[in-house]
Formats: sequence, structure tokens, C-alpha cells
Amino acid sequence: MSIINKKSEYKSNNIAFEVNELKKHFEDVKAVDGISFKVKRGECFGFLGPNGAGKTTTINILACFMKPTDGIAKVAGYDVVKETNEVKKHISYCPQENIFYEELNVYENLMFFGKMYEVDKNLLAQRADDLIKKVGLEDKRKTRSEKLSGGMKRRLNLIIGLVHDPDILFLDEPTAGLDPQSRRLIWDYIFELKERNRTIFLTTHYMDEADILSDRLAIIDHGKIIAQGTPEHLKETIGMGDILIFKIEGQKQKIFNTIEKIKSEDYVLDASYTEEDLTTRITAMDGIGKIGDFIEFFTMENLKIVDVEVQRNSLENVFLSLTGRSLRE
Ligand SMILES: Nc1ncnc2c1ncn2[C@@H]1O[C@H](COP(=O)(O)OP(=O)(O)OP(=O)(O)O)[C@@H](O)[C@H]1O
Ligand SMILES: [Mg+2]
Repeated sequence: MSIINKKSEYKSNNIAFEVNELKKHFEDVKAVDGISFKVKRGECFGFLGPNGAGKTTTINILACFMKPTDGIAKVAGYDVVKETNEVKKHISYCPQENIFYEELNVYENLMFFGKMYEVDKNLLAQRADDLIKKVGLEDKRKTRSEKLSGGMKRRLNLIIGLVHDPDILFLDEPTAGLDPQSRRLIWDYIFELKERNRTIFLTTHYMDEADILSDRLAIIDHGKIIAQGTPEHLKETIGMGDILIFKIEGQKQKIFNTIEKIKSEDYVLDASYTEEDLTTRITAMDGIGKIGDFIEFFTMENLKIVDVEVQRNSLENVFLSLTGRSLRE
């Protein structure tokens, strides 16, 4: 895999950062074990994996907090080991643990970090207010940060990293453990950053978050990338399909005949009937898109559909079929 050679290429090059055979070993723990990927400018690249997979270690190397054991990582065209100062000019880092000062209020924290990042004084006050508004912390502007709720603290932690308006963002589990409202606010803000063509590297162990926010993603497990691509591509090629559970009333023989017909469709992976609760369970690629076809199969035989439940194909499915384990185990 080629690596960007000239720094000047960053502005014209489509690649925001790239990693080649990157390794980080802590004695006998292979936290990161030979990973490679490229992230395009303006892309949100998800890094999905369970606890201990190597997500934070990777982000720490990319944000120049840790040196790799081996391999190369270049951010904005600069080497993260040899050209740390240049890399830092382009990036923001939102760590997994909150980093603000508990004794300062929300506004003071933003001003403090803004000054540290050398943001122009006039611009900074305006930007601090804008950011506070964006994540719904207007009411808490003058509240000491220690008195914020957990979700509010995460929101503050996120905007602190954005106060100098960097073009590449490393976000380490920005929504871990958050309530749905805080999660939604952070997602909306990430969508907005994407619209503003910011490049985002987002680690998460939430499959729905990776699915919704990522343009492309890598699934990491035990320090290795086990799959990468768009969420759609991964679900289509590795996932186990949508599951549809129909509750059907009618003649048993007709139900069996219908199931046989459904099974013969090439997009259907499996179909079975459970007599106790009268349910037909169909597993099919793009099963949700084919729901009209299934309804037609049943109604053609005068069978009555009394209930239907849909379980959408997910990245959880992808992880399960690759590792035999659930992401949450
Ligand atoms: N400083 C360190 N010294 C020794 N081992 C470490 C160190 N940092 C991380 N590790 C180990 O490296 C592995 C990967 O850890 P890492 O923090 O990168 O995982 P993660 O994917 O971010 O997990 P989580 O979802 O829990 O945040 C783990 O086995 C961890 O115990
Ligand atoms: Mg982590």
C-alpha cells in the first residue's frame, strides 16, 4: 500500500490519513497488530469493535499520544512519529475520558482550551457560544463543569476538541454510556461536521452508531481489522440477512406449501414454521424490501397474516458471523 510522500499533496490529495501495517504491542499484549486503512478527506470512518479491541490505542497513535511499535501512520500527509507538530495543527482529539477542568464553567473551559489552541481572541468568544448552542448547553453556559450530568459532560468534552475548528477529528467513543437525547445531539452535530467536509475517525462499540454515521468502517477485533467497507456492503456480503416473522392463520398444508415456494427464491436463506405459535420465520437478504412478495405468497393461498415482526440485518450480525461472538459479550 502506498503512503502519501509529500506534505504539499495533502491539499490536493484525496487522502486525509492512512495507516500501513501499524502495530502497537504492550509486552505480550498485541493491542494493534498490523492494521492498514486509508481515510478520504470529508469521510466519516467508523472503527467498530468490542472492549479491548485496540480502538483507543489506534486513535492514540494517530493523535500522536503514543508511538507505534511498528508500521507507518500519516495524518494530513505528515508522519505521526517524525512530524508530530505538523500533525497536531490539523487534528482534534476527543478522548474516551473527559479532559476538561471540573472547577471551570462550560464557557470558561472552551475559552481556556481555545487559548491553548491559539484561536484568535475575537473569533474564540463567538465560536465558544456557537458550539455551546450546537450541543444544547446554553442553559449551562455558566455552570461549573463538575455539576453537569454525564451526558452534558460528554457534550462539553466533544466541543472542547472542536474549538480550533480542525479539519481532521478523532473521536473516541463520543457517545459511550449516554442517554438517547445526548446521543442524538452528538449525532446531529457529527452530521453537521460531515456536511462541512470535516474528516472524522469515530470509534464506537455501538453498531447502530457505526451504521448511521460511517461512510465506511472497519471492524476491529483483537488488534486486527477483520472487515472493512461501507456499512451496506458489509451487511450485504457478510451479514445474515433480515429476519421476518409472520404469524399466519390457515390450513397447515397450505402454509407448508407456501414455505416451500418461499424457500425456493434465491434471496431467501431460510424459512421455517413453528406450529406452537403459528409463526413462519423467514431469513432473507433485503428481506424488508421483499416484504410485499412474502405477503403475496401468503395471500395467494388465502392464508391470513395476523402479525409481522421485522429484525433488520445489522452490523451486529456481521460481527457475529465473522467471530462467532456478539459485540457486547
Ligand atoms: N498502556 C497499556 N499498557 C498495557 N496494555 C495496554 C495499554 N493500553 C491498552 N492496553 C491493552 O491493549 C488492548 C487494547 O486496548 P484499547 O484501549 O486500545 O481497547 P479499546 O478497543 O479502546 O477498548 P474499549 O472499548 O474498552 O475502550 C487491551 O487488551 C488493553 O488492556
Ligand atoms: Mg477505548
